[in-house]
This record gives sequence, C-alpha cells and structure tokens, in this order.
Amino acid sequence: MPQPTPRHEPNLALHIEDLTVAYNDKPVLWDIDINVPPGVLAAIIGPNGAGKSTLIKAVLGLLKPSAGHIYLHGEPYAKQRRRVGYVPQRSSVDWDFPTTALDVVTMGLYGQLGWLRRPGRAARTKALSALEQVGMADYAERQISQLSGGQQQRVFLARALVQDAQVYFMDEPMAGVDATTERVIIGLLKKLREQGKTVIVVHHDLQTVATYFDFLLLLNVRLIAQGKTSEVYTAENLRAAYGGQIALLQTAQIPQTPPTVAETV
Ligand SMILES: Nc1ncnc2c1ncn2[C@@H]1O[C@H](COP(=O)(O)OP(=O)(O)O)[C@@H](O)[C@H]1O
Ligand SMILES: [Mg+2]
Repeated sequence: MPQPTPRHEPNLALHIEDLTVAYNDKPVLWDIDINVPPGVLAAIIGPNGAGKSTLIKAVLGLLKPSAGHIYLHGEPYAKQRRRVGYVPQRSSVDWDFPTTALDVVTMGLYGQLGWLRRPGRAARTKALSALEQVGMADYAERQISQLSGGQQQRVFLARALVQDAQVYFMDEPMAGVDATTERVIIGLLKKLREQGKTVIVVHHDLQTVATYFDFLLLLNVRLIAQGKTSEVYTAENLRAAYGGQIALLQTAQIPQTPPTVAETV
C-alpha cells in the first residue's frame, strides 16, 4: 500500500526545523526553528544583513539550504506553491523591463491559468479589480518603469492579491514608500488577515512594528525570539537582535520592561 506523504504540523502556516543557509560556506542563517500559526500578520525584524530576505528566499525554494526542513501548512513548498504569494524586495526587481502595470498583475495569475493558456477577459477583469483595490486602476496601461516607487509597490501588491494565496511573503513592502501607499498597504494586509490568510512581512521600521503586527520573528543569523507581539516585543529581545545598533533605535517606541500579564490580555 502506498504510504501517504508525511505532513508536518499541518496546523502551522509556516513550520521550519533546523534551517541553516550559507553563501560560499559562510552561514547567514543558523539552526533556525520557526512556528507561525495561521491567520496572523507577522513581521520579520532584525538588522541589515540579519538574513531576513534569505529566510524568505529559502522558504520559496529560491536557494538551497545547507540543512533543515520547511513546511507550509504541513507540506513542502513544491506542493503548496499555488497557495503562496510573494512580493519581492523592490530593489531586487528590474523596473526597466518593458511591461505595463496590468501585465505585471496578470502575470500573478499564470499559476492558475496553467501552462500555455493565454489570459482572457476574466483574467483581465480580475487583474483590473486588484489594481483598483490598491488605488492603481488609472495606471493599468502605464509602463512600470514610469511609476513612482510607491506606485510600483502597489502594483506588486495587486499581483500578489490576484494569486489568491493562503500564505503571503513580502520583503519590505513599506520601505521607501509615501504615507498614502503605506496606509494602502497596511490596510490590505489587515484585510488579508481578516480573510484568514497568513501574511509574513519583512519590516524595517521599529516605530510601527508593534502597532501593525500581531506576531513577530526577531532574527539575527539566529532566531532571537518568536511569538505574539505582546509577548516578544521587549527591550531585551530587541537588544539581543540589534546588538550595538540599538543606540540608533533610541527614538523607537521600545517598551523598557516586558509587558505584564495585565497589559497583554
Ligand atoms: N547572493 C549572495 N551571495 C553572498 N552573500 C549574500 C548573498 N545574498 C545575501 N548575502 C549575505 O547574506 C547575509 C544576509 O543577507 P540578507 O538575507 O539579504 O539580509 P537582510 O535581508 O536581513 O538584510 C548578508 O551578510 C549578505 O551580505
Ligand atoms: Mg533584505
């Protein structure tokens, strides 16, 4: 009798065991264990070079770990790719590529359309509706190279939305965007959470992390802490993650003592 594929922690949106990733034999993620429950809006935070982008790329199978296992809703990425949406770091995208905003969003549908099937009217309608949700419908036919940074970011968010994924990964979606775009983005992320989706976001801004996110992963090569924001967003954990850079963070609203039980309930 064929054995069923083993499922690991199907109740977790993201489950990582003993993950180590190295570039040229230099480990940049070391023995990481992560458990993210479904339905949270989670931030990955940590200093520059902490391995945040590397973690997302490892989850999406874009690079090969030296060791470890990664499961999304209990299964490897290869089996879950249609249920996973990704918004890459803006700086890693070639914005000179000659394509319109609408094309970029429509490409997000290719996984559902299947190989060699051209997007038809239904796909176009879906893509336009996603552009509308991010306030970019008027720019559908505009070349992406001619959009501002914030507008490009919203187009990429629309592309992730049409994928209709269960788990989303976004790499610094709010870095370098204007206040309007930031409001649009955080509004959408909260809407995705309301729909029961899991959203995991690399976030650069400690000023907003505690108000935007209900779950945190503090990373600096090793995983420093993970859990509900109310439990792990402490001065001690931030110091452990940011080390000597903590002086730069003095202006951020870091609680000086761990929150008491009364504050977290
Ligand atoms: N393609 C690569 N080749 C070699 N080293 C890399 C590569 N990408 C990232 N690194 C290094 O790995 C470490 C983690 O990078 P990254 O995951 O981009 O950090 P973060 O996103 O937290 O700023 C850094 O020291 C970075 O220089
Ligand atoms: Mg990064």
